[in-house]
Amino acid sequence: AIERTLSIIKPDATRRNLTGKINAKFEEAGLRIVAQKRLHLSLEQAGKFYEVHKDRPFYGELCEFMASEPVVVQVLEGEGAIAKNREVMGATNPANAADGTIRKEFALSMGENSVHGSDAPETAAVEISFFFSGLEIVG
Ligand code: CMP
Repeated sequence: AIERTLSIIKPDATRRNLTGKINAKFEEAGLRIVAQKRLHLSLEQAGKFYEVHKDRPFYGELCEFMASEPVVVQVLEGEGAIAKNREVMGATNPANAADGTIRKEFALSMGENSVHGSDAPETAAVEISFFFSGLEIVG
C-alpha cells in the first residue's frame, strides 16, 4: 500500500550540509518528499516529540541534541514507505548499518545518527500530525 512516514534530518546532518545527499537517497529509493520544512526545535518540543523515550537513560541527551541546531522535518510517501525508509536509513547504531545506507555513510554515533524515521503506521500518523497540517502535505 502507499504509505506516508515522518522523517527528520537531524542536527549532525544539517550542520554538515548533508540534506541534499540524504534527500537523494530517499528519492533514489522511490520515496517522494511530499512535505518538508526546516525548524529549530525548542527543548520542550523535542521532549514532547520523543516522549515515548522519556524513561530511557539517553532521553535528556537525545532532546538536547535534537534542539541544538536546525532539523529538517519531512513527510515521505511511497509503496511501503515506512519499511522502505527504515531500510534506506540503516540500523540505529551506525556500526551495525548496512553498506549504502544513510547511517552507514553519514552517521557519527548512535545518538548523532543523522536521521529519524517512524517505526510503524500508528506512530507515523502521530508523528506526521506533530509537525504538519493536512494542507502542508502535497502528494
Ligand atoms: P531515533 O530513530 O531518532 O529514535 C530515538 C533516538 O535515540 C535514536 O534514533 C538514537 O539516535 C537515540 N539514541 C541514543 N542513544 C540510544 C540508545 N542507547 N539506544 C537507542 N537509541 C538511542
